[in-house]
Amino acid sequence: MEKKNIDWGNLGFGYIVTDKRYVSEYRDGKWDEGILTEKSEIVLSECAGVLQYAQTVFEGLKAYTTQDGKIVTFRPDLNAERMMDSAKRLEMPVFPKEKFIDAIEQVVKANMSYVPPFGSGASLYIRPYMFGKNAVIGVKPADEYQFRIFTTPVGPYFKSGAKPLTLCVSDFDRAAPHGTGNIKAGLNYAMSLHPIMEAHRNGFDENMYLDSATRTKVEETGGANFLFVTKDGTVVTPKSDTILPSITRRSLLYVAEKYLGLKVEEREVYFEEVREFVECGLCGTAAVISPVGKIVNHGEEICFPSGMEKMGPVMQRLYDTLTGIQMGRIEAPEGWIYEIK
Ligand code: PLP
Ligand code: COI
Repeated sequence: MEKKNIDWGNLGFGYIVTDKRYVSEYRDGKWDEGILTEKSEIVLSECAGVLQYAQTVFEGLKAYTTQDGKIVTFRPDLNAERMMDSAKRLEMPVFPKEKFIDAIEQVVKANMSYVPPFGSGASLYIRPYMFGKNAVIGVKPADEYQFRIFTTPVGPYFKSGAKPLTLCVSDFDRAAPHGTGNIKAGLNYAMSLHPIMEAHRNGFDENMYLDSATRTKVEETGGANFLFVTKDGTVVTPKSDTILPSITRRSLLYVAEKYLGLKVEEREVYFEEVREFVECGLCGTAAVISPVGKIVNHGEEICFPSGMEKMGPVMQRLYDTLTGIQMGRIEAPEGWIYEIK
């Protein structure tokens, strides 16, 4: 199969229309078979639930070309499960796990020529999403839904690539206690648009959100979880009911413990202790591991000893091991790699 003529090594994190996308309709209480279509546009009622009351959830995962030329995805079963949790919280029908994985397989296969080659540093981003389709004017869930998956080849999420980021502590909150911070709903991202633009206008790459109840504990950024490293080499990640349970973070904790023999802690992290850490990074499907060099809280700077030039040594080992597993250079734990044949 011939690859598209794309400058793989210089891709950013943007949208490029690929050949096919998957669509399934939910009507009369059930999902249909689902199809692949070339049509990338959607026609909707002006009163669709998604347009009026933001009834939409989504996922994000990637397909990679491995060292030996296979096309694989990483733990798609966990994306399927998380999307089921997101849907339930917004009173949407769940899209069954087996159907989700089958749809991923179909859509990646149909866009094989867009999967970046091994060694290019790029990957095929896969975006499953679901939204309320029919007209609703009173505040209530829709009766009809569409589930779709499109793909787009991407490079690094942050423009600086592997250069450490500078974050600021946001005065805005990301998620309320007992709210929707732990699901992947579009509404969480809509509310982050103003804070992220403010951060950019002030010269920062991203926001660090604190817990909205006490504003003393570290939560996450708009699109990634935090990882820290202590002086004695322990990997620490915030535990909170109001952050997205990152699949990358869950995988990295396992890698840290089982592959690298590091101590790991998932616990509440007070902002006050952040200055004690020696490394900091953001982790997620899009972010992979993006190093953080500096965090600014109302003019007060926390500079990590790992500096502003490169990733710290522990983050680098985590990064190399995780990407090694994803690219087939390192043997994966059972069930982590799903080959698209
Ligand atoms: N946190 C938020 C708010 C996100 O949007 C994402 C991206 O999916 C993550 C964390 C990382 O999650 P994952 O590793 O499952 O991609
Ligand atoms: C992902 O990492 O897949 C996400 O959905 C994050 C998003 C901010 C691009």
